[in-house]
Amino acid sequence: MAELIAYYSRADENYVNGDIKDLEVGNTEIVAGMIQKLTGASMFEIEQMKPYAKDYNTCIAQAQADQKRDARPELKSYPENLDEYDTIYLGYPNYWGTMPMAVFTFLEHFDFTGKVLKPFCTHEGSGMGRSERDIRKLCPGAVVESGLALRGGNVTNEEMRIKQWI
Ligand SMILES: Cc1cc2nc3c(=O)[nH]c(=O)nc-3n(C[C@H](O)[C@H](O)[C@H](O)COP(=O)(O)O)c2cc1C
Repeated sequence: MAELIAYYSRADENYVNGDIKDLEVGNTEIVAGMIQKLTGASMFEIEQMKPYAKDYNTCIAQAQADQKRDARPELKSYPENLDEYDTIYLGYPNYWGTMPMAVFTFLEHFDFTGKVLKPFCTHEGSGMGRSERDIRKLCPGAVVESGLALRGGNVTNEEMRIKQWI
């Protein structure tokens, strides 16, 4: 059976080891690409219909407001068919201790019963946070494996850990 990498990631302004930088490719997307190279899995980007702002501080405020009201931001699209995949690598940045709310939207859209979910997350210190617990709540029939947490600013040096985790 086939494998899918579904990930959420934001380029634009972000903190990298203490400095604001304009990133062309988001950290989580870089990890998704590394997993793709190692596994040959298909890739799907989870994108909000209305992306958060490019400006870092505005984005922070928008994402926090969405989390506070337990929002489910509308997505641009979904994978056509999930039946063909038995394993799904699920990637996201840590936003306020868990996944961006758009990933909640994604997980609620499908029935993951019988599938293996492998969460990976990039962060600036909080690791997986409570995201694995949230995924188990949203996907009660899935086997949620233990996640891989990587420092956002360091992802390009993490190929060994990614390989071992896969
Ligand atoms: C809205 C927002 C909230 C964040 N909250 C946290 C957090 O609670 N803990 C943490 O360690 N990092 C937090 N970060 C940092 C990101 O998780 C980190 O920069 C990540 O690598 C970004 O991934 P991306 O480039 O794929 O979007 C936050 C970043 C943003 C933009």
